[in-house]
Amino acid sequence: MYTHHNNALRLQDVGQEVKLKGFVAKKRDLGTLVFIDLRDQEGITQLAFDEQNDLRSITTGIKHEFVLEVRGVVRERSSKNPDLPTGDIEIDVTQLEVLAQAKTPPLLIQDDTDALEETRLTYRYLDLRRPYLQKMFRLRHDITQSVRSFLNGENFMEFETPILTKSTPEGARDYVVPSRLHEGHFYALPQSPQLFKQLLMISGFEKYYQIAKCFRDEDLRSDRQPEFTQIDIEMSFIDQEAVLDLSERMIKHVMKTIKGLTFEEPFPRLPYHEAMRRFGSDKPDTRFGLELVNVNDVFEQTSFSVFKTVLEASGNLEAITVKGGASQLSRKDLDGFGDIAKRYGAKGLAYLKWEDALAGPLAKFVSDEERDALNQVTGFEQGDILLVVADQPSIAYDAMGHIRLALGKKLDLIDETVFDFTWIVDWPMFEYDATEGRHYALHHPFTRVQSQDMARLKDEPTCVLANAYDLVVQGQELGGGSLRIHEPLLQASVFEILGLSEAEQEAKFGFLKDALTYGAPPHGGIAFGLDRLVMLLGGTKNIRDVILFPKTTSAQCLMTEAPSALDEATLKALKLQK
Ligand code: AMO
Ligand code: AMP
Repeated sequence: MYTHHNNALRLQDVGQEVKLKGFVAKKRDLGTLVFIDLRDQEGITQLAFDEQNDLRSITTGIKHEFVLEVRGVVRERSSKNPDLPTGDIEIDVTQLEVLAQAKTPPLLIQDDTDALEETRLTYRYLDLRRPYLQKMFRLRHDITQSVRSFLNGENFMEFETPILTKSTPEGARDYVVPSRLHEGHFYALPQSPQLFKQLLMISGFEKYYQIAKCFRDEDLRSDRQPEFTQIDIEMSFIDQEAVLDLSERMIKHVMKTIKGLTFEEPFPRLPYHEAMRRFGSDKPDTRFGLELVNVNDVFEQTSFSVFKTVLEASGNLEAITVKGGASQLSRKDLDGFGDIAKRYGAKGLAYLKWEDALAGPLAKFVSDEERDALNQVTGFEQGDILLVVADQPSIAYDAMGHIRLALGKKLDLIDETVFDFTWIVDWPMFEYDATEGRHYALHHPFTRVQSQDMARLKDEPTCVLANAYDLVVQGQELGGGSLRIHEPLLQASVFEILGLSEAEQEAKFGFLKDALTYGAPPHGGIAFGLDRLVMLLGGTKNIRDVILFPKTTSAQCLMTEAPSALDEATLKALKLQK
């Protein structure tokens, strides 16, 4: 063992004899004097080898990342390092043993490493030695413990549910595992423990949680990994208010214990439709304004053919006015926003500047009356710029919502220190995909329909609201959940609307439908993305900073080289090859 960690010794320890272990972080050979920075999980201590120290000659062979054990005496440094907690002292080394040698590492093991991410992921075990990542995983541990301690205190039980299981629909493709014993049959890895946690409620457990691994084969982004972790929660004999209250207290507990931040007020709640209308997004970043304004009425009589066509097709004209923006946004900025509009499916972005007079591509189509109406509706006045996307509502919202985010960044309106936790409530139960001609569940098929809308379920499914809720912060979905259907008939109706025949319902969810007939308590729950919670508190936008052994954006593990080919014998045993 060692007597101290490398972040422990201070001036008051001067004179003590100590034994330390660690990796060589840095070596400075000044000829007569040699210094080594010894690094362990906790920090760094400087080792000193003076001119008269016999060990100094041994240090010549010592390189970065060698593993050492030293004994020595703590002494005050002559030149102190105020940036290091142990910067007032150093160790006058009396014994030195090399516990392991190290090849020259392929990346610099320090925070400002210049290594490519590819190299870092290939040598992830070395990358993880960097203090930044060491801190991040300490934070991850602390957050996980904070969550556990809160939920345990609320009388929740922590369980594990199967990984080799059957498909749970959460909107992504499944990862599947071939069965050796049952030819042509496959297990699916869970996209979430959704069905198991509902079954646990039917089993009579009332408060469950799990720090659960989930697997989704979907397009990866900076906040998405194929394998990620949820804080999965389910409760029975509760209503929506109880789930929101519990969740809110849990998040506030984590914010308090980890960040020392107190949130006195309840988290604001935004109905889904209002979020779309004001922010063009179901996960709005509410840290800044620039809200969307609908200008359909202003352009009722427009001579601009693009707007006219969209209005005739019951589309939307969604606008943002940027105060003082006429001189702030360059042509290049505006072209960039136009590209964003196109990326999200719109045909273009129109803009109108009010300099001395109206300018920009829209100007020649805008009458004085329309200009005055824009002033009334959006506050548009001299010095401002107005941006408009015209399209079908979902595209107009999506495009303008993303332009709004880009504007927020460009104009430096986003305060990264603000945690704008907001509940998005009153989600529609279904959305209709016109190209496929079928309905999809916006949350998932087990979500409860709000009671006042039950009667409209069959005839007007897209008008029906669900008891579903998401917690959103800094423009990210941190968690989502719902009250569940606990009546077999209602569950069957929802499956029907989703286009599942009786036979398909039976094949996919027979066990759930059956279970619902044996007395299912009303229940509901939520799941938070643990990785996203760590990202939020760790201040990183890259999910790979908070997952120990992450995959690349093409779902590979560069270190183990997974996925990899199987040998012929294995393929034959699995009946994947004849
Ligand atoms: P949902 O699919 O909304 O709900 O997922 C819950 C939360 O999990 C996180 N998350 C992800 N994090 C990283 N990478 C991913 N690929 C990824 N996908 C989702 C998000 C999200 O808010 N069973 C339901 C929950 C319930 O109804 O109780 C579910 O899984 O933070
Ligand atoms: P065009 O008629 O294609 O030359 O476009 C004239 C202007 O209208 C350009 O500035 C386009 O970017 C813009 N525009 C085109 N389609 C749309 C749309 N759907 N919504 C808003 N602006 C558009």
